[in-house]
Amino acid sequence: YERPFSIGHPLRLYKGVWIAEKMLRGTLVMQQCFKSCPTDIFLASFPKSGTTWLKAMAFSTLTRTKCSLDKHPLLTHNPHQCVPYMELQFATGRRQIIDVIPSPRLMSTHLPYFLLPDSIKESSCRIVYIWRDPKDVLISAWHFAQKILGGPDKMATFDQFYEFFCQGLYSFGPIWNHILEYWEESKRRPEKILFLKYENILQEPVKYAKQLAHFIGCPFSESEENQHVVEQIVELCSIKKMKDFDVNKDGDLVTSSTNVHISKAYFFRKGEVGDWKSHMTQEMAERLDTLIKEKFEGSGLQI
Ligand code: A3P
Repeated sequence: YERPFSIGHPLRLYKGVWIAEKMLRGTLVMQQCFKSCPTDIFLASFPKSGTTWLKAMAFSTLTRTKCSLDKHPLLTHNPHQCVPYMELQFATGRRQIIDVIPSPRLMSTHLPYFLLPDSIKESSCRIVYIWRDPKDVLISAWHFAQKILGGPDKMATFDQFYEFFCQGLYSFGPIWNHILEYWEESKRRPEKILFLKYENILQEPVKYAKQLAHFIGCPFSESEENQHVVEQIVELCSIKKMKDFDVNKDGDLVTSSTNVHISKAYFFRKGEVGDWKSHMTQEMAERLDTLIKEKFEGSGLQI
């Protein structure tokens, strides 16, 4: 499938997952050669579920003793430049970037759990997964695709986009399998996978920032608590702040491989819960909810 379901490359169906051709090639190379270390930390997500935010939070938490928050790299670098996206590095022949990340290595992936390299699944490295109400993911994906592809006239109508999303046709889709698999795995191995929900973090960011820090092996000390370091990290990573940094206002991320221009600004839109209400009819929302409910049935997971 060509546009609008993929950004720059046609999507292929591989083992039940829709994946951009180029990323699939990167994934296959990665599966063969990537060797994970026990100290590695992977940030995993379905696209448009809060990846950028999780990257900012995990990166600033992990590096807080090395760089003061007033001169922090996030003030001059987009979170995607601080935490490399694995499949993309392997797809574009830049895997050496991964070799030089200081330990503990922080990396990100959009791959479903079953497509991760065996060494990630088998080593004692950790995975933080973020998920979000699929209705808001769909809306976020719709806006993202429009910005990149140049508006509705150049791609599908919203109704068409919705239909394809419901069929699972979006990069790394279908979304329900993606979420469910990490959920099941996190129940089986809670020490390996931290399963976080975007909406919960938005509601209680300090609580989840502490949980994240603990999970990735750098909990906040009592003296840091007293100095409100966690609150400062939450503030630094808030969408309001991040949107305002010059580095995130314009300029493309390196995308020479895909021949599309992805501006850093595209990753920061509203950052709200329930934006689907201003785009979907009640019927559309109910249909997607019912679909997800059926898929999640018996798993203990609810939107
Ligand atoms: P919206 O389009 O709903 O605003 P991803 O990073 O996985 O591509 O997800 C992008 C979504 O996360 C966008 O959602 C974006 O606005 C939101 N986002 C980006 N940075 C954020 C932050 N610091 N806090 C909360 N949401 C953020």
